[in-house]
Amino acid sequence: MIKKETIDKILETALVEEVVGDFVHLKKRGTSLIGICPFHNEKTPSFHVSPSKGIYKCFGCGKGGDSVRFIMDHEKYSYPEALKFIANKYNIEVEETEVTPEFKEEQDKRESLYIVSNYAAKFFSDKMWTSDEGKTIGLSYFKERGFREDIIKKFELGYSPDDWSALLDAAVADSYQQSFLEDVGLVIKNEQGRVYDRFRGRVMFPIHNFTGRVIGFGGRTLKTDKAVPKYVNSPESDIYHKSNVLYGLFQAKKAIRDFDNCYLVEGYADVLSVQQAGVENVVASSGTSLTVEQIRLIGRFTKSVTILYDGDAAGIKASLRGLDMILEEGLDVKVVLFPDGHDPDSYIQQLGASAFKTHVEKNQKDFIFYKTEILLHDAGNDPIKKAGVIRDVVESIAKIPDAIKASVFLRECSNLLQIEERILISELNKIKRSKDRKENQQRQNLEETIPTEFEEILNESHPVQTDEYQERDIIRVLLTYGDQLVHWEEMTDTFIGPYIITNLSDVTFINPLYSKVIQYYHDELENGYLPKEKDFIQHADVEIANMAVSMISTPYQLSENWYNMHNITVPDETEKLKGTVMGAIFHLKKKKINTIISAKQKQIQEEKDEANVMILMKEYLELKEVEKYISNYLGAVITK
Ligand code: UTP
Ligand code: MN
Repeated sequence: MIKKETIDKILETALVEEVVGDFVHLKKRGTSLIGICPFHNEKTPSFHVSPSKGIYKCFGCGKGGDSVRFIMDHEKYSYPEALKFIANKYNIEVEETEVTPEFKEEQDKRESLYIVSNYAAKFFSDKMWTSDEGKTIGLSYFKERGFREDIIKKFELGYSPDDWSALLDAAVADSYQQSFLEDVGLVIKNEQGRVYDRFRGRVMFPIHNFTGRVIGFGGRTLKTDKAVPKYVNSPESDIYHKSNVLYGLFQAKKAIRDFDNCYLVEGYADVLSVQQAGVENVVASSGTSLTVEQIRLIGRFTKSVTILYDGDAAGIKASLRGLDMILEEGLDVKVVLFPDGHDPDSYIQQLGASAFKTHVEKNQKDFIFYKTEILLHDAGNDPIKKAGVIRDVVESIAKIPDAIKASVFLRECSNLLQIEERILISELNKIKRSKDRKENQQRQNLEETIPTEFEEILNESHPVQTDEYQERDIIRVLLTYGDQLVHWEEMTDTFIGPYIITNLSDVTFINPLYSKVIQYYHDELENGYLPKEKDFIQHADVEIANMAVSMISTPYQLSENWYNMHNITVPDETEKLKGTVMGAIFHLKKKKINTIISAKQKQIQEEKDEANVMILMKEYLELKEVEKYISNYLGAVITK
């Protein structure tokens, strides 16, 4: 782990305009800098950088944060990776905390596995380019298939000699530990204790993780013998987990972001050919069916996927379900089919790059339409089957999180299915309702494990969002003014943050994120630390950091509304800081007490026993008293 002092030093040294400026051309505009947002497509700049606050914020797509956040988002780095990147830029030495020996051993072991995999990749590639066997068998195979040298090098392809221990012998001679070779499956130890190379006499495709380190291999046979498996692959290991890897992502990631699209193919050869055709945003799922992890991996770079299939009908139908999963993750999915059993590789090798590009351009189709057509074709004139198709298609549409997009698809599909849109909409609502019911049930089960009386009352009578506005303003005031010391006449000097926290100790926040912020603030105060604005902007919890940035970039909006409600004009809320703070606290309290009051009301209405009604009435009147007090107070503070 990186030492706290180093992190602080990095955060203090990094200038947001410099870190962002390395990637975005920034122009001065007033006190801030503006540029074209690197996170979404735009022609006029809406990306703002504020050097004084140390943050950036795009008013087009909403992305924002500090320097570290920028590097994380732009380079898809983890928090420590981004810190190291910035440290490197400013020549700051990164000190890591002492870790436990077990942790260190674990880290060292992983590192060794990477190193030994990298060694093997070099070994296979050297063999292919320099040994006679490699040149005449391996390299000539790739060349016969039409792959250019630059592509062969870009993917670090190689050849494993047809020998039981070529790699093992070389690695041991170069002082690599045999156990590490075993751990990544490059060599195999059989039951008799004999140790031998896994890959023999095959052309080798190293598999990289998305930062470019070799983590595994696929080895293709050169034999046409059906009894020999076409590919031998590395087994799962501490560094290779098939389900979170996409072949070619490292080589494709920049283009995927630039074109805001990712082509998905099936095999290694397809990736190579498509890249060779000059289309660099391409990855392969490598034979296994697509996993959620792989989809999320793509989702880090783009929200748009185009699947290039070979035209084998059985395979297509089998994959329809898997594609629903991509919709569910909020990605747009298009599909392109290739004719006559061609896959992208064979199509390109036979018809050339430009024919390929034209084909893709002309034949891409939204997945929903594609699915509708296939299923309709299958159903023929059978009305029962057709009803099944409708339900199936609407189920896919129901998975699309974006309601507007979903409604566009509904309209189009009503044409394709020749059925009234109204019927599709009602079908969709039915599916959604049953989904909501399921989710509600799950949420309820969860909530039942923490039944505080207060929360029950709240949940019973009010939808979740009602206190949002008041809760949000408290958080905003806390973030913006929490560390300000104030002297208000009748009170001793106080910091605003602790004052708010103390005064709201009896209030439960409904929004889980705000509740988390309050808890964090509370805990830090207990530890004797007063959180500052920057602690939120730089918060390790991304949700908190994002929220802080957006609150800080839109400062007065919310309380302005209040003042408008009370017909008061306020030039700058800092002048009326007391009004702002008290207003925020008591508006929230008022909201909460109103919720309790209406719950009490309902209780009274439903109570049959006269005696109980009397007790409840008494409680009700007490609550009304409190509410009146708060209202009076609010009036007094605000107009003061
Ligand atoms: P393909 O058979 O389409 O392979 O399988 P390919 O890469 O296009 O190979 P060529 O064109 O015949 O040389 C698609 C992917 O499925 C995995 C591999 O990742 C392959 O790229 N696969 C296939 C295996 O893992 N094992 C196999 O035996 C076959
Ligand atoms: Mn192929």
